[in-house]
Amino acid sequence: MLKDKKIVLGITGSIAAYKIPFLVRLLIKEGAEVRVIMTPAAVDFVTPLTLSTLSRNTVVVDPFKVATGEWNNHVELGMWADAMVFAPVTANTLGKMVNGIADNFVVTAYLSAKCPVFIVPAMDLDMYNHPSTQKNISTLKSYGNIVVEPQTGELASGLSGPGRMEEPENLVTLLKSYFQKQNDFAGRTILVTAGPTYEAIDPVRFIGNHSSGKMGFAIAAEAAWRGASVILVSGPSCNEIHHPAINRINVVSANEMFSACLEHFPTADITIMAAAVADFTPAKFSSEKIKKNQQDHSLEMKPTPDILKELGSIKKPPQILVGFALETENEIPNAIEKLNAKNLDLIILNSLKDSGAGFNTNTNKVTILDKSGRINRGELKDKREVAADIFDAVKALFSDTK
Ligand code: CTP
Repeated sequence: MLKDKKIVLGITGSIAAYKIPFLVRLLIKEGAEVRVIMTPAAVDFVTPLTLSTLSRNTVVVDPFKVATGEWNNHVELGMWADAMVFAPVTANTLGKMVNGIADNFVVTAYLSAKCPVFIVPAMDLDMYNHPSTQKNISTLKSYGNIVVEPQTGELASGLSGPGRMEEPENLVTLLKSYFQKQNDFAGRTILVTAGPTYEAIDPVRFIGNHSSGKMGFAIAAEAAWRGASVILVSGPSCNEIHHPAINRINVVSANEMFSACLEHFPTADITIMAAAVADFTPAKFSSEKIKKNQQDHSLEMKPTPDILKELGSIKKPPQILVGFALETENEIPNAIEKLNAKNLDLIILNSLKDSGAGFNTNTNKVTILDKSGRINRGELKDKREVAADIFDAVKALFSDTK
């Protein structure tokens, strides 16, 4: 799977750099072509000589000091690479990547990437858990990079916790799976909804919900990664996403989301409704701010359109429609009922009872049920990995219809 793949490997100054010679060996054994670039700090942890010997290529730390000058141009490197893997990445380099501080060759190459980028952080647990680091990781994900979250275990400091760089064998498996799935949805148009909806009460107040949009955005990123052209209809969400194949349409209310979905559904081969759509909206919108000059105030509500159900009723073969089910009890029977009632092909069951799953987390634990009765219970994983599982389940439906 990695035969003849061109991989740029960027190393930064973390103790985990000692694992990189093994990674280079594994990549070379798989038939990949590897070019190693390093920050000056990385050289203190692993020698360029070791890496150039294993990669059979010149290692660049300072591009101006390479005598041959053949490929030490970051722009050229960006065009050459099929994938860039940055491992290990320190908290310092994460910050530079987020802010575009190109004061070394590694960050310059990152900024010149035209290919998928894998970022593999490694650091002490407190640095990793710090809000600055977590925010940088979220931002880098929102730029479409794959962040391979560190493992939990014993750290070089003697402390134990999250921060251990993912093992080289697992990184190779991830790369192989990427190249295997690359473009497997090419030529397909995928409509994805994400985030909450806000239902206005008056010009100041609204009724919303806790959805952050992270799951829907991860689905959009995965779809683009797999070659699809994506229409992302998003309710109010702080998430950002940047990819030429993703067309983001911002909406606020359930009704606006409904109109956007109706407009784009006819051209969608696959529709995935990850949004947490409000089921009710205020019956009347008050154009003036409601004053508190009364003791009690009750709000009359009316139902919103069930977008998923409407789309299910107009779906034409071979369109595929995927819904989510958020349940707190009788999970599987309720999900199956929704799958049938809304004429879905797949339903993704989320239980709020699972810790680490649900609203505003980076991870999720879902059960995927399809119309032929297959039930696939997943582990707690990064939302991007959950998105990959959803597309694998969609692919299984394609093979059912062959
Ligand atoms: N959904 C929708 N339109 C709505 C409400 C929900 O399209 N007005 C979609 C969601 O995007 C999700 C699926 O329906 O894909 C299931 O949402 P969920 O909140 O679990 O269920 P509901 O159908 O709203 O039913 P209930 O709240 O009674 O469980």
